[in-house]
Amino acid sequence: MKKAICLSAITLFLVGGNLLAQDTKKTVITINANEKVGDISQQFYGLMTEEINYSYDGGLYGELIRNRAFKDKVTEAEHWSLIKEGKNEGQITLDSIEQKGTALDRNLRLDITSSDSKGRIGIANDGFWGIPVWANTKYTASFYAKTSSDFKGELSLAIESNDGKTIFAKAQVINVTGDWKKYTVTLNTGKVDTTSSTRFVITTKNKGTVWFSLVSLFQPTYNNRPNGNRKDIMELMAGMKPGFLRFPGGNYLQSNKIETRFEWKKTLGDISQRPTHDNNSWHYHSSDGMGLMEFLGWCEDLKMEPLLAVFDGLVLNRKAQPITGDSLKIYIQEALDEIEFVNGDVHTKWGAVRAKLGHPKPFSVKYIEVGNEDWFDKAKTWDARFTMFYDAIKSKYPGLYVISSAHVTTRMPDYEDIHHYFSFKKSLTLAHKYDNYIRTDAKVFEGEWACREGNPTTNFLGALGDAAFLTGLERNADIVKMSCYAPLFVNVNPGGMQWKSNLIGYNAVSSYGSPSYYLQKMFSENKGDVSVKTSIVNVPLAADTTEQLFYSVTKDSKTGSLFLKVVNVSEISQSANIEINSNSKILAEGKVTILTSEKVTDTNSLVEPKKIVPITFNAKGLGNHFNYSFKPHSITVLKLRAK
Ligand code: AHR
Repeated sequence: MKKAICLSAITLFLVGGNLLAQDTKKTVITINANEKVGDISQQFYGLMTEEINYSYDGGLYGELIRNRAFKDKVTEAEHWSLIKEGKNEGQITLDSIEQKGTALDRNLRLDITSSDSKGRIGIANDGFWGIPVWANTKYTASFYAKTSSDFKGELSLAIESNDGKTIFAKAQVINVTGDWKKYTVTLNTGKVDTTSSTRFVITTKNKGTVWFSLVSLFQPTYNNRPNGNRKDIMELMAGMKPGFLRFPGGNYLQSNKIETRFEWKKTLGDISQRPTHDNNSWHYHSSDGMGLMEFLGWCEDLKMEPLLAVFDGLVLNRKAQPITGDSLKIYIQEALDEIEFVNGDVHTKWGAVRAKLGHPKPFSVKYIEVGNEDWFDKAKTWDARFTMFYDAIKSKYPGLYVISSAHVTTRMPDYEDIHHYFSFKKSLTLAHKYDNYIRTDAKVFEGEWACREGNPTTNFLGALGDAAFLTGLERNADIVKMSCYAPLFVNVNPGGMQWKSNLIGYNAVSSYGSPSYYLQKMFSENKGDVSVKTSIVNVPLAADTTEQLFYSVTKDSKTGSLFLKVVNVSEISQSANIEINSNSKILAEGKVTILTSEKVTDTNSLVEPKKIVPITFNAKGLGNHFNYSFKPHSITVLKLRAK
């Protein structure tokens, strides 16, 4: 096999555009540590997010009740059921009694026609594939209710096993009245085993009618943020040290119809003010609990730059004509209002709205993306639409970076968002995509990319493909300025995934990072701040002539430390001579971090969350000239310290 992979004794290679002959088989990576290629910004590695694969509802967003506003379906109260014990009789139906001052227009009506004090009757919600139960945990429940005049007595709330036999946490609400009112209680678990074979119930022993609206149950959130995010998933993301967050999509920004786009104004304020919307891009209803303020709060929590995408008149439905000309002006204004909302001071109209929502300080968003994947605009209106958005944004906010979501010829955007979804095989050529890229075009933002091997989350082959691709981005850091993988999340329960392959997987109670997650963490933790000039000779080739070794080198310009990343996609070790031309002496002792796996089909999962993780150890024998053997199927980061 080794024979098939090595080059012939006479090898042709390119250095600075010249074809040279090399008469040795030895692979040599030359690093010119003093020659900078480009700056690697803090925003080089970021995150991309949208409501897909139950990313927020049933994922990051801390809400545990599914279909809390009873809007998921028009005809039935999906995920809700009637529970009755003993001789209790009754039924549940969807109703629509107005609740003044709110956006709530759907409720669940419980009619109890016959009551039996020995048992209970009530409503149950099955959550997002169960309600997570953890020991010693405080949950916050809230709901709106009103009763018929003949209903007397109290309501019992519980998180319990699906058969109702084990109660994990409970609370009581007394004196529910005939007028709509919000009730809030806490439920505490004690020493219980973790489980999600559970449901949330509200029951009674009384006769009469109770209407329920916006029934919510919250788990503890990251930084105790109200209406906030699930802790474990936030901690996984924090581990990646992401520089920015691209939101709210993706297709979720656009949807299939104008009316179901991400309409930011309808995602603000108390959750009772949010009408919710049909996420028809990904075929499930969105609670809009993750609204514009929550995205920004998420950025604050993880110290990420927000990268806000604005709707630009193109919907996902390929048959629909994009909105153009004068008709586009209301959407341009919608975008300008949104920018004012996030960045305006408290004296501006929308800045004042933000201040009223509890955040007087502007968020100082710097990056605005116009649309999503506008290369799908077959009516060829993109240039004109982008021009209108660009001119409107730049004239009001000249300091903002405007990102185009497709190539544009009429204006020079600050960045062009380019997407790549690819197979492992394709990653081997894509790794060179930017080597010969035209340098006079807009800077590149790789706003969605992924090697789609494995599902629901990637396997190790996916991580190898991702790593090869990323070395190409780092090597070309003069033109590629930001990057983020997509999709970020998947709920791994059956029916949870709409798009393979994903970075972070979870169910109701736990979460894990895929091999691609750990690879990105490794790269992000060792990114340095400049990429430096390199070259390679005698790249090992497979029998089909595909390259087997990929690499990039970045530097911490303060300390002079070099980060050499090498991806060996072959099934045998590959050794290379590393030649470092530098003003500094490279020390013999450094650090190595390796991500590898026995089989490329291996992966992490809920059951084995850390089957594939990087290992770091001290290395000796490094220096300005050394030989290193890269393990079969491995991703290696060598941290080379300078004196
Ligand atoms: O990441 C999944 C989808 O892929 C995104 O929503 C869309 O932008 C792209 O086509």
